[in-house]
Amino acid sequence: MSLWGGRFTGKSDPLFKAFNDSLPFDYRLVHADIAGSICWASAICKAGVITAAERDALHAALRELDKVAAADGDAVARSGHEDVHSWVESNLIAKVGDLGKKLHTGRSRNDQVATDIRLWTTAQLDTLNIAVQRVQQALLALADGELNTPAGPTVIPGYTHLQRGQPVLFSHWCLAYVEMLHRDRERFADARKRAARSPLGCGALAGTAFPVDRPSLAADLQLPEACRNSLDAVSDRDFAFETMSACSLCALHLSRLAEDLILYTSSEFAFVHMDDAVTSGSSLMPQKKNPDAMELIRGKAGRIIGDLVALAVTLKGLPLAYNKDMQEDKEPLFDAVDHLLLSLNMTVPVIATLKVDRETCRTAALGDGTVLSTDLADYLVDRGMPFRTAHEVAGKAVRLALHSKTPLHKLTVAQFNAIVGEAGPTSVRIAEDIYKALTLEASLARRAAMGGTSPLRVAEALAAARVMVG
Ligand code: ARG
Repeated sequence: MSLWGGRFTGKSDPLFKAFNDSLPFDYRLVHADIAGSICWASAICKAGVITAAERDALHAALRELDKVAAADGDAVARSGHEDVHSWVESNLIAKVGDLGKKLHTGRSRNDQVATDIRLWTTAQLDTLNIAVQRVQQALLALADGELNTPAGPTVIPGYTHLQRGQPVLFSHWCLAYVEMLHRDRERFADARKRAARSPLGCGALAGTAFPVDRPSLAADLQLPEACRNSLDAVSDRDFAFETMSACSLCALHLSRLAEDLILYTSSEFAFVHMDDAVTSGSSLMPQKKNPDAMELIRGKAGRIIGDLVALAVTLKGLPLAYNKDMQEDKEPLFDAVDHLLLSLNMTVPVIATLKVDRETCRTAALGDGTVLSTDLADYLVDRGMPFRTAHEVAGKAVRLALHSKTPLHKLTVAQFNAIVGEAGPTSVRIAEDIYKALTLEASLARRAAMGGTSPLRVAEALAAARVMVG
């Protein structure tokens, strides 16, 4: 049964019907649609449109429909109705007869669908928040394990330009992602504030003609506020865009984590090993163990950002108020949320089963010692040399180390001082204590200002992150 037959004499072209129908994808809103309808029945009862007995009969029938939909969502999707709203209304009428025909009084599918998507979105934002928290917890456990190993904290090279830069704690790397994910949770919470507003009672575009108490209807829907302008309420999809924007950033963070791990698990780095459970083999090359989970997570970021762009382009330039173009909001929104959730859930076991090769990490972190060249410059600064001059001296020491194939930290004091002398007149001298400064431990310990990678700061940061993550 269609909701709009009266003014038509001709039948829909089957091609048009298939093109126009949204039930194959918007059936996922069925629980939200029913929840909204239950609250709407209460609202029009309060407004004097239906009696309390009628409201109760509608509530009971709607609750039964909810069970039907929960039992077989696919059957709803395949039932041939135009959209989820039509499915609910037709089935309601089938259950309670003419009373079912009263439910749509003062309501439009325009305020209805906007309400449904908002209810769906707020619930999904809550689920996403928990899913992100689980990834953070896995990262915290990894950070904890690598901070407190019998041989001391695990050290890796920190990179810029993918060139070894300075040593950092592996746990510091973990906590970097915990921070990114925390901002994602903040964004989800922020998006939720604006999603949790009720358009219901705005009608098709001009507002409902019945005396509905919209703020109390909003509260009934568990939405703290009612949208203030009916034209805006039925045409606003900012909340979907904001949610997908937050999803995109979160996916982008996961893709960077994925990329780091794909690099770190390659033979070239070999810092970590991924568990058999989350990797796959090659049909041809027997030795292969591919980080597919992480590659897919990296790939899905592109798709999720694509979903965001699709919605932006759909909304751009739409005149007020509702336009059917807006039916195209749902699939990208569902897709972005679904695939981000999948990615988050997949990240947890990858992190939880990761084995870190501490020796390889340490060897790579020290390398030829040139990662300690900043520490050489800092040593000279401590003794009164201006940083720019010290940088020049350290650079020359690196050149000598590379040229003579000697690790930087193995150059002799005489070699160091010869280079210092070349920098111009100075009383600064390098002494034996340079060899204490040019160690991974000294380099790490010096980075002791807030946010740095010194073991003390990282231990504090880990403790603070535990509180923040919950
Ligand atoms: N299926 C529609 C959508 O998702 C529901 C709203 C239809 N409104 C209308 N005026 N045709 O946008």
